[in-house]
Amino acid sequence: MSNQEITKVQELIYTTRVESVMAANVVVIDPSMTVSQVKDLMRDRRISGAPVVSDNQIIGIVTISDVIRLMEEGKLNSPITEVMTTEVRTVLKDAMVSEVINNVGRQGFSRLPVVDHDGSLVGIVTTGTLIRSLLLQMDKSFQKNEAEKLYTYRASHIFQDISSDDTSLMLRYVVNERDFDNAGKASSMIKRSLQRLVVRPQIVRRVGVAVYEAEMNLVIHTDIGGEIIVEVRKDRVNIATVDHGPGIEDLKRVLQPGFSTAPEWIRDMGFGAGMGLANIKRVSDVMKLTSAYGQGTRLEIVFNFGPESLALKTDSQKA
Ligand SMILES: Nc1ncnc2c1ncn2[C@@H]1O[C@H](COP(=O)(O)OP(=O)(O)OP(=O)(O)O)[C@@H](O)[C@H]1O
Ligand SMILES: [Mg+2]
Repeated sequence: MSNQEITKVQELIYTTRVESVMAANVVVIDPSMTVSQVKDLMRDRRISGAPVVSDNQIIGIVTISDVIRLMEEGKLNSPITEVMTTEVRTVLKDAMVSEVINNVGRQGFSRLPVVDHDGSLVGIVTTGTLIRSLLLQMDKSFQKNEAEKLYTYRASHIFQDISSDDTSLMLRYVVNERDFDNAGKASSMIKRSLQRLVVRPQIVRRVGVAVYEAEMNLVIHTDIGGEIIVEVRKDRVNIATVDHGPGIEDLKRVLQPGFSTAPEWIRDMGFGAGMGLANIKRVSDVMKLTSAYGQGTRLEIVFNFGPESLALKTDSQKA
């Protein structure tokens, strides 16, 4: 395994929640069972241990080696509640997998019941479920990386491969008013598209900031949403956000840093500092805001690619 792969596993362990590596349908032992019944349960369900659960709360745990020992001691008919291990280590479903790994090292764990905030059982992590899901995630992230490389390669050649006097690429994104669940999605798609076109990371970051602010303004301030139109050219990217109301009454005033008409509830969500347009102006090469009050608003932003423009790549290829 290369160093990078080890880093990937570590990253996964520290960023994956227990909930996503557990088995959710847990075989449980009922407190009314005898040792003999538990033995049959384990054989039938092919498991080597299970929690004893009463009212969805874990009151004990029994493993196959406990059962073997109890059989040797002739305790087949003992109630399981009398012989189970009552000190049960559990892990919270929101915890990171790293916590589970710590338990493996410390006490030779083979299964760890997963609990909700109220202590109720929601799943179980075993070495098996853990390894399976980590391998699956490794595979997914590997495939994603490979796909990303391929896309970057293909997309970045569009300006070289398509012959015209002037090629540009138009991307359009619809943004709905008050849709906070999806807010930010358009800007992250735009960022990713520019990355694939091999626009310089520094410029992608600046575009990301500007487009995020512009997208949030559509979400927060418009009556019926709007759209973001991105035009990628060889030498620059032109971005326009367009909406159909309510429009802006005093253009000079809204451009002043700190001015906002955002209502209280929006401010409670952390928006409405009145800094969006100022930020866009700061990070962009050109910004133009126009509006007809009562009709709609149009914001145009330009980022120049500078000396490392996509056009130069084309020119050097031609040469
Ligand atoms: N598309 C739009 N339609 C109508 N009004 C807008 C639009 N975009 C901006 N505005 C007006 O411009 C003001 C300033 O916008 P700006 O993005 O700078 O700050 P904000 O959105 O109020 O707060 P922040 O961006 O810091 O969360 C807004 O409060 C709003 O009145
Ligand atoms: Mg704003």
